Amino acid sequence: MNDALILGIAGAPGTAQHHDSASLHVTGRAQFIDDIAEPPGLLHCKLVTSPHAHARIIGIDSTAALAVPGVAAVLTADDFPGANDIAPILKGEPCLAADVVDYAGQAVAIVAAETLAAAREAAKHVAVQYQPLAPVLSIEAALAAESYVAPPQIIVRGDADAALAAAPHRLKGRLRTGGQDHFYLEGQIATAMLRDDGGMHVLSSTQHPTEVQHGVSHVLNLPFAAVTVEVRRMGGAFGGKESQATQIAAMAALVAARTGRPAKLRLARDDDMIVTGKRHDFLINWDVGFDGEGRILGLDMRLAARAGNVADLSPAVMTRALCHVDNVYFLPAVRLRGYACKTNTVSNTAFRGFGGPQGMIGTEAMIEQIARHLALPVEAVRARNYYGAPPRATTPYGQEVEDNIIPLLSAKLEASAQLAERRAAIDRFNRASPVIRKGLATFAVKFGISFNIPTLNQAGALVHVYTDGSVHLNHGGTEMGQGLFVKVAQVVADVFQIDLGHVRVSATTTDKVPNTSATAASSGSDLNGMAAYNAAIDIRARMATVAAAQFGVPIESVTFSANRVYAGNRSLSFAELAKLAWQQRVSLSATGFYRTPNLSWDAKTMRGRPFYYFAYGIAASEVAIDTLTGEYRVLRTDIVHDCGRSLNPAIDRGQIEGGFVQGMGWLTMEELWWDAEGRLRTHAPSTYKIPGSRDIPADFRVHILEDSPNPEPTIFRSKAVGEPPLMLAISVWLALRDAVASLGDNRFPVALDAPATPERVLAAAADIRRHAASGGAALPSV
Ligand code: MTE
Ligand code: HPA
Ligand code: MOS
Repeated sequence: MNDALILGIAGAPGTAQHHDSASLHVTGRAQFIDDIAEPPGLLHCKLVTSPHAHARIIGIDSTAALAVPGVAAVLTADDFPGANDIAPILKGEPCLAADVVDYAGQAVAIVAAETLAAAREAAKHVAVQYQPLAPVLSIEAALAAESYVAPPQIIVRGDADAALAAAPHRLKGRLRTGGQDHFYLEGQIATAMLRDDGGMHVLSSTQHPTEVQHGVSHVLNLPFAAVTVEVRRMGGAFGGKESQATQIAAMAALVAARTGRPAKLRLARDDDMIVTGKRHDFLINWDVGFDGEGRILGLDMRLAARAGNVADLSPAVMTRALCHVDNVYFLPAVRLRGYACKTNTVSNTAFRGFGGPQGMIGTEAMIEQIARHLALPVEAVRARNYYGAPPRATTPYGQEVEDNIIPLLSAKLEASAQLAERRAAIDRFNRASPVIRKGLATFAVKFGISFNIPTLNQAGALVHVYTDGSVHLNHGGTEMGQGLFVKVAQVVADVFQIDLGHVRVSATTTDKVPNTSATAASSGSDLNGMAAYNAAIDIRARMATVAAAQFGVPIESVTFSANRVYAGNRSLSFAELAKLAWQQRVSLSATGFYRTPNLSWDAKTMRGRPFYYFAYGIAASEVAIDTLTGEYRVLRTDIVHDCGRSLNPAIDRGQIEGGFVQGMGWLTMEELWWDAEGRLRTHAPSTYKIPGSRDIPADFRVHILEDSPNPEPTIFRSKAVGEPPLMLAISVWLALRDAVASLGDNRFPVALDAPATPERVLAAAADIRRHAASGGAALPSV
């Protein structure tokens, strides 16, 4: 046997490889759009935004602004050569407000000047006259007014009313969950450059170059082919740049088209937080029937989300929320209703989990309430409701759960985290500790992988092999820090059996790979990995034909291994074969395409098989709270997460840790606060607290489940990992509730919404103490 065969290649799939830009990231040399050398004549832009949540625009006077030295243009809704519409799903979502503003912070005009300072100064002098109108701000107000951005959605299975009526026990409850700012380090930005042929080249920090291309072409009235959108990397996106990068790019392109000069629009942090949408806050109400052991028999649940002023992605977010109410639990008879409430607040959008986290957290609070009511351990009630063998294996929307590994994950966690012993130790601790209380909780996640709109589950790639054996890889996926580029490069390196270092990945651009989907729904590597694989396989087959002819052997006996190509007892380097193919006029370039198989979804009946497979994970978190101040710490978190056969365990670990901590931020400290006029008052890190390095669990044990190939034939049997771990942070929120519950000997339901800020923890603790003191006569409202 040849040594080379044993050596293999450097960077093979399944091995831990650092992010392709890791050293650039940590040395500050990675170029983000604002770091790219500015083209001559560049104009800098600043938005003029509405101070009112709802008002009619009476007039806009730009005279004073135009008089500021260096100002080149002040543009409004009247200036679009095409349509003033950037809607991603439905129609009618203005880029710049036209007659009416419908949230505080909505862009009304854009000022372009030689310097950013001049643009900022001039923006103050654009005089907009408003006639204020009554705003609808809250979910409750929108529900009362039946004000929705899209028709309500409903999933029904069986007869929920009959099941509720017949159930031995019945409880009602409610939960409110807060929104979340994406807080990507790089704010929204775009630079637009008019080409000599009238086309537009846009550098956009976007997860969705194709949608930006469409948006720019709509507002400028250009064919798609005249607009090119490029992104090398984003400094984080988290869903915030799935649809909302379009508006920023469209405005920069408007300035470039109107002035004939390149234009850059970069939102400052405060503007970014005020102008762009966030995770949807939800109000969740349930009416649940169950048996004496806590088994759920019937459920009527209503999810209401604050969608903001326009639909944006809210209908799809609500669909995903409704499809995650079940999470890991079998719900026999259900009626799940979802309302995307239209309010005079910023349009909420995709955020890691895409409604899934909100869908599943209500169910967890409900199960906890059931357990407290029956005086049973919460863990036992959870386990009793897990999906099982048919007939307990069908989701409310009709998809079978065929790959359930929750019992396996749960057993692993139980053993590795010594849950039983720690539970006993915590109970002992709490009995002896009046002020500091500890809590422990586990949470299991099942997250559906695929865009919940089947059409979107497609991807393309473009691969070139050069005559020195180096490989250029391009695909429709975008890099936002999640490590997509290195994973897809590992796939291509493996197909050619060359070292990872020989594969170069270039910026994502709409003129290399067209008609792409957003890099979202965690499916970036599933889709683009497979498309790139298909392209590379094509080229490899052509190269194998050349090698077979050269050595006079059948093509089946040609093998690619460790940077060489073997045929019988002869071999060539990969580079030599590339050159040989070129000499023989064989193409060394190919496109690849992939569509996810076996998907179906009927939006009318809300039934089908929307997900190719499920990704699973489980976490246990232990917390300590100070019941006199409400402050808390996460003492320990254990995670067992399923990445299928991981393409890159180092990257996947980073996604698990990062997702978990981001989820903790959502559920514990990140609080968005709007005043009575509908103005966001938490629009900077001074008032909006994201987790810092000292907030991560003091003892953080992340374990990637081994020997767990995806049962579906995904790329090298891997599983998507981008979003699911965020939801594992629900374990922290549940642990905080557990700690609070100990104040009343676990007899009373805990009234604690999300985020569980110290103030809320303190209030919940006081609430339980009151009820314990009054002998538990009246139950607190949940
Ligand atoms: N990781 C980093 N570092 N930065 C990000 O912006 N976005 C998350 C997740 N992980 C994000 C991230 C979201 S919302 C999604 S959908 C996935 O990455 C998208 O990438 P993938 O499909 O390649 O996993
Ligand atoms: N996730 C992210 N983006 C989407 C989805 C989804 O499920 N559906 C449509 N856009
Ligand atoms: Mo992620 S919320 O699907 O961009």
